[in-house]
Amino acid sequence: MQTIKDVQLQGKTVLLRVDFNIPMNKDGTIIDDSKMKAALPTLEYILNQGARVIVMSHLGRPKGRPDSQYSMKPLAGHLQSLVKNRVIMATDSIGPAVQEAVSKLQPGEILLLENLRFYKEEEQNDPNHAQQLADLADIFVNDAFGAAHRAHASTVGVADYLPAYAGLLMEQEVKMLRQVLDNPESPRMAILGGAKVADKLGLIGNLINKMDILLIAGGMGNTFIKAQGHSIGKSMHEADRLEEAAQLLQTARERDVKILLPIDVVAADAISADAAWGIYPVDSIPDDKMIVDIGPQTIEIFGAAIRTARTIIWNGPLGVYEYEQFAKGTWEAARAIAESPAVSVIGGGDSAAAVQNLGLEKDITHISTGGGATLEFLEGRTLPGVAVAERAEVLP
Ligand code: 3PG
Ligand code: MG
Repeated sequence: MQTIKDVQLQGKTVLLRVDFNIPMNKDGTIIDDSKMKAALPTLEYILNQGARVIVMSHLGRPKGRPDSQYSMKPLAGHLQSLVKNRVIMATDSIGPAVQEAVSKLQPGEILLLENLRFYKEEEQNDPNHAQQLADLADIFVNDAFGAAHRAHASTVGVADYLPAYAGLLMEQEVKMLRQVLDNPESPRMAILGGAKVADKLGLIGNLINKMDILLIAGGMGNTFIKAQGHSIGKSMHEADRLEEAAQLLQTARERDVKILLPIDVVAADAISADAAWGIYPVDSIPDDKMIVDIGPQTIEIFGAAIRTARTIIWNGPLGVYEYEQFAKGTWEAARAIAESPAVSVIGGGDSAAAVQNLGLEKDITHISTGGGATLEFLEGRTLPGVAVAERAEVLP
């Protein structure tokens, strides 16, 4: 992978793609700026080399046209509070006003472009649009690991017109994910939770080849509990995936991969703060209740397994952790991971948030900024945004 360390940046104008798609309130206040902070080492490195930087990102999902609710403006103010260099907010992402702002930009200054997704051509990876972005600069740097699973004009298209390099965050993310996937110390464990199974069966299929132990809980765990033949009451699950889940359990047995599923659960009559709930073994979940967390015996078993692992990947909460009374399984898993001596990588917004809420960040080897991107990486897919930085041939 070609990174910003491999190129002379002094005096250059750099087009830097970041993932500043961060959670914000309707009034424009920021809920969590960790993805912004994660891009600072790259931004500061480029600026310290004496380059001008054009920073570009998407924010939310505006429908291919300007929408003030998704303006990057509040982020410009926040970015200015995080860096000592001057931050200038552009009124657009392409066009004459942006070209004018770029022409006035001084080395060591940052121009933040308006939301890339105000143009439908961005997500369409329109070549003409990509060229207009590329024409603003001399070099393209992709540091947006969180958006690396999207083949858009700003993540992929611009690399047809500019030499492309990876930023430091992109490099670190890929390095850590490859480390846990391809060169892990045993016992190797993946902890999989979160709501949906459908988009994660591919993930399990790939991880069965790479891991020694899979811990499966949360919404996807429900489908597996049912595939084992238990009744799961009103629990959310994917009825059309039961056979596939049973097949994966079978494959795991044949390959000597251990799959740990909940043996007891917290089940409630509703997902709400005042729901009535109880603890049940998986073979006696009441018909009128739904699984909302793993139970205390499962917490013990999962915790013991986690503490002996040497490599851990965790994606997705183990219960409806937004409600404190259903968060214990997720929290205890986070604590066990932090206590374990394993190399630990956490992907997915919710699992990362759980770790951050508990203040355990420093005890985790790597917290990924990618949700969807991390999942696709762990599935063994090539991410288009990573691939551009890995192209053997670098354009002049
Ligand atoms: C994310 O936050 O998941 C990334 O920024 C990608 O955003 P998207 O899912 O809207 O493409
Ligand atoms: Mg997403």
